[in-house]
Amino acid sequence: MRILDYLKIAVAKGRTEKGAAEIFKKAGFGKYVDPDSRKLTSFDDEEKIAYIYVKPVDVTTYVQNGAADLGVIGKDMLLENSSSLYELLDLGFGKCKMVVAGKENKYPRGKEETLRVATSYPNIAKSYFGHKNQKIISVNLGGSVELAPLLGLSDVIVDLVETGRTLRANDLYVIEEICSVSTKLVSNRVSYRFKHQRVMELVKRLEEVCS
Ligand code: PRP
Repeated sequence: MRILDYLKIAVAKGRTEKGAAEIFKKAGFGKYVDPDSRKLTSFDDEEKIAYIYVKPVDVTTYVQNGAADLGVIGKDMLLENSSSLYELLDLGFGKCKMVVAGKENKYPRGKEETLRVATSYPNIAKSYFGHKNQKIISVNLGGSVELAPLLGLSDVIVDLVETGRTLRANDLYVIEEICSVSTKLVSNRVSYRFKHQRVMELVKRLEEVCS
């Protein structure tokens, strides 16, 4: 096996991985994509595809640096990392929204006051509130950001909402929607150019099964 001949696809582990497995399978690829396995790589020798499973936050790094040709990643991560990768296809799953939420459905402070924002997306928060001329202090957390307003660590959160269950369970309300998010197939410029035919064949097959 010559890994150089393989199309390397970095897949975000976790929620995205399951959706990716389904869609690649539907398109006739995924027999080697096993989301329950602890392996960090899997090889489809027939199609000459290597799947690389990495943390969502790392997908853009792998693709940007050419360690992977393509990536399967949420739009949230692309925005957060100011990615200049090519978005080839919306894979039609992982649909959710990036929102501002808090203990009430309105901002708890006046516009002239500094807002404390808990988030795992400090760049998105900075850019969003920057456009609104709202000064913020970003409280950066790795997850479970819904706890922050409840414990007085922040005034609001910027986070993803899918079903709304987590907000409801913690008595939080959407104040504003920032943007819609879904899972994208992305490519770096070099792979897009030099592996164009293979990349476009893959896009075509996935496109046919995307809703
Ligand atoms: C994500 C997100 C919210 C939750 C939203 O967290 O950060 O907390 O899902 O989904 P819902 O609207 O369907 O409840 P995730 O479960 O990925 O874990 P995390 O909080 O550790 O980031």
